[in-house]
Amino acid sequence: MLRTARLILRNWRPEDFEPWAALNADPEVMRHFPATLTRVEADAMAARNRDHIDQHGFGLWAVERREDGAFLGFTGLMTLRESNPLAPGVEAGWRLARHAWGQGYATEAARAAMDDGFTRLGLAQIVAFTAVPNLPSQAVMARLGMTRRPDLDFDHPMLPPGHVLERHLVWSQDRS
Ligand SMILES: CC(C)(COP(=O)(O)OP(=O)(O)OC[C@H]1O[C@@H](n2cnc3c(N)ncnc32)[C@H](O)[C@@H]1OP(=O)(O)O)[C@@H](O)C(=O)NCCC(=O)NCCS
Repeated sequence: MLRTARLILRNWRPEDFEPWAALNADPEVMRHFPATLTRVEADAMAARNRDHIDQHGFGLWAVERREDGAFLGFTGLMTLRESNPLAPGVEAGWRLARHAWGQGYATEAARAAMDDGFTRLGLAQIVAFTAVPNLPSQAVMARLGMTRRPDLDFDHPMLPPGHVLERHLVWSQDRS
C-alpha cells in the first residue's frame, strides 16, 4: 500500500469491481482503446491486477481518495507482457473514472508508484507508452518528468496494421 497527500494506492477489494466496471463501460474513458470492456472483461482485469499485487508486491493499484474513500480507478506499475516490444521491463499505467480527471490525481498516484519502484523495488528503469491520439496520457508522462523516447516507439502487436491506435509513443525514466 502507498499513501500520498490525497490518495491511497492499495490492493483491490470486492467493492471496487462495480465502479471499475462502470468506468470501463464509459466510452469517453475508453476513447483511446479498441473498445469498452464488458463486466466480465472488467472483472477479469481487476482480478489480474489483484493477483499481480499479491504475487509481486506491486502492480496496478486501486486508487482510493483519502477524503471520502471513493474508488477512482487504477495507477501503478506492471510487468510488461512478453509480446510487448519493450519487454522485459516494467511499465507505468493509469486509468481513472471521468469524475476524477482534471485534479492531478493520476500524476500524484503515478509519482508515488514510480518512487516506490525505484526505491523499494530497485528498478533501474520504468517505461510508459500510449497511442498517438492519447494526449491526456502523454501529458501525465510529461508532468512526471519522463523522457520522450522516439527511438523506442512501436506498433502495438495486439492491433491490426493501419489501426488508428496502432502506433505507440514511449517515455522512460531511469532511477538515476
Ligand atoms: C490519462 C488520465 C488518467 C489523465 O487524467 P488527467 O486528469 O488529465 O491527469 P491528472 O490526474 O494528472 O490531472 C492533471 C490535470 O489536473 C489539473 N489539476 C487540478 N488540480 C490539481 C492539483 N491539485 N495538482 C495537480 N494538478 C491539478 C492539472 O492542471 C491538469 O489539468 P489540465 O489537463 O487541464 O492541464 C485520464 O485522462 C484517463 O483516465 N483517461 C482514460 C484512460 C487512459 O487513456 N489511460 C492511459 C492509457 S495509456
